[in-house]
Amino acid sequence: MKILLLGSGGREDALAWRLSQCGSCEELHVAPGNPGMARWADEVHALDLSDLAATVQLAKGIDADLVVVGPEAPLVAGLADLLTEAGIPCFGPGKGAAMLEGSKSFTKRICDDAGIPTASYCETASVEAAMAALDRFGIPVVIKADGLAAGKGVTVAMTREEAEEAVREAGDAPLVIEEFLDGEEASLFALCDGSSVQFLASAQDHKRVGEGDTGPNTGGMGAYSPAPVLTDALAEQAMREIVAPTAQWLEQQGMAYRGVLYAGLMLTAEGPKLIEYNVRFGDPECQAIMPRIAGDLAAALLAVAKGDLGSAEAIELEDAHVMTIVVASKGYPASATKGGAIHGIEAAEEEGAIVFQAGTSRNDDGQLVANGGRVLNVTAAGESLADARDAAYAALGRIEFADGFSRRDIGWRELGRDRTDRT
Ligand code: AMP
Ligand code: GLY
Repeated sequence: MKILLLGSGGREDALAWRLSQCGSCEELHVAPGNPGMARWADEVHALDLSDLAATVQLAKGIDADLVVVGPEAPLVAGLADLLTEAGIPCFGPGKGAAMLEGSKSFTKRICDDAGIPTASYCETASVEAAMAALDRFGIPVVIKADGLAAGKGVTVAMTREEAEEAVREAGDAPLVIEEFLDGEEASLFALCDGSSVQFLASAQDHKRVGEGDTGPNTGGMGAYSPAPVLTDALAEQAMREIVAPTAQWLEQQGMAYRGVLYAGLMLTAEGPKLIEYNVRFGDPECQAIMPRIAGDLAAALLAVAKGDLGSAEAIELEDAHVMTIVVASKGYPASATKGGAIHGIEAAEEEGAIVFQAGTSRNDDGQLVANGGRVLNVTAAGESLADARDAAYAALGRIEFADGFSRRDIGWRELGRDRTDRT
């Protein structure tokens, strides 16, 4: 089949790398892509992804059998619906179901209707109502802006002063104010073809820019898969109590979900609870998941897009641990130093790692340079998480990028735990 993969980040580089290895993938087209994705793609197309009509036109023009959408914005804008109207199977949900990521209050209403475990909450639309809600939930309390905010619309307030400041700052904007959940976070990724769901993988990421999980939030500074805290039993429970009822609710409402469902979970003393949904793969979690996937991922994604997951062989996961470490440009997340030269990718890959690219480009001399906040994802597998970490950091040591930095402690929480079953 001919696949058109949309996006240009580390997540899409990992998807391109994995899809290009599948027997069923005869031609891989990417748009707008990046220099890393050009390594695996048959063709890279220039595209403004916010131009939905141009995107559909491109898919038609290359006669794509499947479109795989990396980021959430085109899904929330309705790209999958346009592709479906044009008769092109799309891996990624329609506008209705993409509201799972686009609107926090939408997700909360599904939880109410379907009895899905989540933090108790209330919705407010004025400073006065929000202040009253603070009294109800006590401290700590979580204050969320409704709508897409790239992870920046959430305040976990540890004091009343902090909570009041967040409320005043939001003004009379719609907020979701909710109970603070105590526990450890883990991410669960499931394939959903509209009616059936299939567990794909677990992962954990490090969202803060600084070591020890301190400093401002980022898109993610590193990740690993699997997440041992999400045991098989907890993953099954989350699939049964959270993911399956969500898919069922959406189907009943005529918004069948076709794509990957990314559930952000809090593992509490009472079991897994839903923090949020995303309607795409995580970035950088995807970079840690793709090397674990055995078999024909492309065939499975097509089956999902066609609403017939049962027709493809179930995806098997390699029994390996994978870690990915983000190399970001100095100044990230506030700003990014662009244009700095990057060397050593081949040397890092000779160490057995794979280096997925995100914010990179080629300058006029053909030299690979930084072109964004998160630049590289140095990714390595091992029999244990410690082995994967050692391999990834050894490879990272071969990268020469003067304007870059990485966290040195990816996996610290998990690696610090005493797991007697660890090899
Ligand atoms: P969200 O955008 O909803 O994923 O929230 C961003 C981050 O805020 C999450 O990854 C959690 O670390 C934290 N968070 C969100 N909701 C809660 C909650 N109810 N209790 C504790 N922490 C939360
Ligand atoms: N790494 C977090 C996300 O992709 O939303």
